[in-house]
Amino acid sequence: MKHVLIIGSGLSGLSCAIELAENGVKSTLVSPYPSERAQSVMAAGGINAALGDDDSPQQHAADTLKSGGDIAGPKAVAGLCEEAPHIVRRLEELGVVFSREKSGQIALRAFGGQSRSRTAYAGASTGKQIMTALIREARKHECEGLITRCLGRQFHSALIKDGKCYGAILYNDKTRKMETIYADAVVIATGGQNVLFGKTTGSTQCDGYTAAKLYEQGARLKNLEFIQYHPTTVETPQKRMLISEAARGDGGKLYYMDGDRKVYFMEDLYGERGNLMPRDIVARCIYDAPSQVYLDISFLGKKQIKTRLLEVAEVCQKYAGIDVYKESIPVYPSVHFFMGGLAVDRNHKTSIDNLYAAGECASMYHGANRLGGNSLLSAIYSAKVTAASICGLPRQEERPDFSEYISEQEKILAERLASKSKFSAVYIRHEVAKLMNDCLGITRTEEKLTEGIRGIDYFISISDKLVYDADVSPYIGYSLRPMLILARAILTSALERKESRGAHIREDYPERRDEYATCSVSEYRNGEYHISYVKEDDQ
Ligand code: FUM
Repeated sequence: MKHVLIIGSGLSGLSCAIELAENGVKSTLVSPYPSERAQSVMAAGGINAALGDDDSPQQHAADTLKSGGDIAGPKAVAGLCEEAPHIVRRLEELGVVFSREKSGQIALRAFGGQSRSRTAYAGASTGKQIMTALIREARKHECEGLITRCLGRQFHSALIKDGKCYGAILYNDKTRKMETIYADAVVIATGGQNVLFGKTTGSTQCDGYTAAKLYEQGARLKNLEFIQYHPTTVETPQKRMLISEAARGDGGKLYYMDGDRKVYFMEDLYGERGNLMPRDIVARCIYDAPSQVYLDISFLGKKQIKTRLLEVAEVCQKYAGIDVYKESIPVYPSVHFFMGGLAVDRNHKTSIDNLYAAGECASMYHGANRLGGNSLLSAIYSAKVTAASICGLPRQEERPDFSEYISEQEKILAERLASKSKFSAVYIRHEVAKLMNDCLGITRTEEKLTEGIRGIDYFISISDKLVYDADVSPYIGYSLRPMLILARAILTSALERKESRGAHIREDYPERRDEYATCSVSEYRNGEYHISYVKEDDQ
């Protein structure tokens, strides 16, 4: 029987395993932590689908392409939006309780950048409900032996020969040893690159290492310069907590104080729907505001907040001591989503045969800026497409001998664990996050990006001299160098795109330029970073 190795057990990995199981294909689902702790659980806003009488998949696709700065592939986006209503209905069958109107229709909320209300939601915990339903569904297939879970494992590297993938080496945190899993196909579903930026709205499990290592091993990356800042977050000791766009979709207003006067700057600038402009615009306006920006939802009243925005109220109370029923919320933009990642074709195959990517780690539907509410949707849809592609693959009857590569990797790990060095990988991770925030903020300049590249190049030059922080986790050590290479690739992509588009805003090139109406593709060859540009549907 065909066997697939899936790295990552969040929404995409889990969905892919279920789809494969429904088609009689076995998979092993590998992750450091259980699915219950995946980032997808935190998604509060909702999932887009053209379910309203005034809406259509074509309109949804048009909004998605526009928000993406017109560089996403129209065919891929059309597929995503056509499938969206079926995905929501399927989730309902699996037990997700979507909020409803009095008429019984699924309730739809307004989200930024959308011409229609089309975000379906399950109270204030859409992600949690979807994950709970899928975990339950996956359990059935675990009982049938079609899905096997492997917890406490970190990706180390892929087994690649002559442009084809045969499996992966994993690091077992408990035994502190490497393990090898061979497979007919490997799926990467590891989320975004949050850790490179320190505190973000995303999970600290999402560090970009898997994509980074695969980049080092020859896989192409795409659209790395496009990093979405969510306009409204609050700071906590570990991360930035998201104040869902739903708060503004339901009527919440942004303002700053000018003396005693509240200035509702988004409405002043963009009219009635100002608070719901696309994220890049709102984030930029908050960033440019002359003083602290606040979000006010208190006037919506207790009943509406409790039924539709409870998560927002709870987050503010728990992490910032703010009573949203009476007080406004001080908000800051923060890194939220990575439009870039592993370059995949429309079948979700990477540039390496038998290696696939789904969810946020793959770059496909969002172009230069993702439309709010398309994240849960694309995570599920991309997993479906991936599973369908793999179902059509033949089994890999023969595989090359990887024993030499595996023993070499084991030897390197053992040497690093025994070595002593004054450099610490944990410290460098923190320094990199500071540098990335400083150089790849909401606006960028050639000067800052070049300074960032110099800084990362220095860290790369010392990365081979590091001890593997054995008392933290050797993973932190061996993941560092590829992550630095990824950071360098992101900075290079941002430096090369000499225009402003979507989430990439260059102070020195403020206009959108036609010659860049394409996706950037980054390749790492012989220690050098090569950028080329492609039209998405050409692939
Ligand atoms: O604001 C939000 O609830 C975020 C949703 C999303 O990123 O799609």
